[in-house]
Amino acid sequence: MVRLSQLTAAMLGLAACLGAGTNAQAGEVNVYSYRQPFLVQPLFDAFTAETGHTVNMVFAQKGLIERAQQEGRLSPMDVLLTVDIGRLSQAKEAGITAAVNDPMINAAIPAQYREPDGHWIGLTSRIRVIYAAKGRVPDAKTLTYEALADPKYKGRICTRSGKHVYQIGLVASMINHHGVEGAETWLAGLRDNLARKPSGNDRSQVKAVWQGQCDLALGNHYYYLKMLAEPEQRAWAEGVEVIFPNQNDRGVHANISGMSLAAHAPDKAAALELMRFLVSQKAQEIYANANGEYPLRVGAAWSPALTTLGQFKIDPLSLQAISDQRGEAVLMTDRVRYDH
Ligand SMILES: [Fe+2]
Repeated sequence: MVRLSQLTAAMLGLAACLGAGTNAQAGEVNVYSYRQPFLVQPLFDAFTAETGHTVNMVFAQKGLIERAQQEGRLSPMDVLLTVDIGRLSQAKEAGITAAVNDPMINAAIPAQYREPDGHWIGLTSRIRVIYAAKGRVPDAKTLTYEALADPKYKGRICTRSGKHVYQIGLVASMINHHGVEGAETWLAGLRDNLARKPSGNDRSQVKAVWQGQCDLALGNHYYYLKMLAEPEQRAWAEGVEVIFPNQNDRGVHANISGMSLAAHAPDKAAALELMRFLVSQKAQEIYANANGEYPLRVGAAWSPALTTLGQFKIDPLSLQAISDQRGEAVLMTDRVRYDH
């Protein structure tokens, strides 16, 4: 088995070659991935088996967009894989992505989840659910995001920092639905209901519910599955119900993981082949199974674990519309001093 450090070393070598003026070998796709290797390697293996192209991956939790920007025209990146509309928008704004208008991709992934010119394309969705303490929230089933600002929940809600991309995405969707003023009133109401100063990650909010610090928490849906699979976190998950809010109106807020074609892809044809593969039924099912997310391709099967969470309605608001309000959402979060 090739270790990641060897792959990274290979990529550095490749970058050096490009610097010397040679081209990447045809049939190789260089992926910069913010997604962990265990999530994406099975996809690359299936792609290689099907097409013969090899995939070189550079994985990092930070800095890949900046790196591609610095590399500029000499960047070996063909495809970027990442999560959250915040990161995908950042990549486009950094100028490191290219437009993709591909009939096969457009047919597979609904327009709601694609940048209008194809600078980013969603692959899977991640749902911002409400985690409700079992037995302590009688009206849990009919909760809405709006209701989280109701004074009856004062001192009963836990969330992570308002500055985190997951929270910014939700606030941006609220700005779309209620305007700046309406969303700000809501966000201030939610802040007033917090049981504690925002801290920790999504899982630690569920832990706080389990510990009795709060009755309601916001978090991405896949953490429920991950917590159930971890012996020391299982009790946290078992203490809550997963609530898909706003089911009687517009539907739940969904964010995405996605991909972009690199602006200076050395092998654009192979990159597009990989992108088409990633929206295929087969790849969508492999990917969604590995990461606990919902495949965006219409008709792709959900993993058995996801099926247990049941069906739900998703807000049809486009991810581009959410992206457009991210800047305002960041300012608003500061204005209401959400984290103080
Ligand atoms: Fe996450």
